[in-house]
Amino acid sequence: MTAAGSNLNIVTPGHSCEARATEAADAVKAIYQRRAVRVYDDKPVTRDNVDFLVDAAIQAPSAVNCQPWAFVVIQEREVLARYAKEGKQLLLNEPPVIEVVESGLPDFDRLRQMAFGPDFELFHGAPALIVIYATSADGVPDCFLAAQNLMLAAWTLGLGSCPIGLARPLFNQAEVKEELGVSPEWPCALPIAVGWPDGETPPTSRRPAQIVTWR
Ligand SMILES: Cc1cc2nc3c(=O)[nH]c(=O)nc-3n(C[C@H](O)[C@H](O)[C@H](O)COP(=O)(O)O)c2cc1C
Repeated sequence: MTAAGSNLNIVTPGHSCEARATEAADAVKAIYQRRAVRVYDDKPVTRDNVDFLVDAAIQAPSAVNCQPWAFVVIQEREVLARYAKEGKQLLLNEPPVIEVVESGLPDFDRLRQMAFGPDFELFHGAPALIVIYATSADGVPDCFLAAQNLMLAAWTLGLGSCPIGLARPLFNQAEVKEELGVSPEWPCALPIAVGWPDGETPPTSRRPAQIVTWR
């Protein structure tokens, strides 16, 4: 059974082997079909949607189960617009050093062109932004796992998401942290734009996995 508008097969409790296999297939389908969505429509993301995403996020594994994450949810249009503008200005003042710059990834070129164009909007016009902060200095990797959970859970609802690494400098600014009620000690792990996709997102490619050693 597929819930209206969602990508997920809802398996009712009872849990036959077949049902479990369906759940596993759904998880893999989400991994393969999730895309970074950069075009959103205006349909609002509900409180229930956000609760679902954050709850999925916190199911992520973490070192010694320390769960070093905290979330900021921004949905007010004026606040999103102001942060998008301030974040873009920060980038223009100080272009980020991104490690993949030398890797020749076509996606990076596309992102760079986008980021400095006049029409670029840092959050791609998404109606919601969920910013994940690490509550300890070494908690950022755990937060990335939570971020992936959140984005896969979004896909199951038919919601689009996009990690916005370019907004990290903004959300690491002392004044912004203060405004958001975030501890000055917490590094911003990843802001994630969330919203209903407007149209299809084209597939992306992957280079073959490099398995350097297998003994
Ligand atoms: C850590 C991280 C930061 C990213 N930052 C941005 C960003 O600032 N803006 C953006 O549009 N996409 C951003 N992306 C999305 C990537 O560009 C995207 O995941 C990649 O091109 C592969 O596309 P796919 O996710 O649709 O497969 C980021 C992804 C990651 C993992």
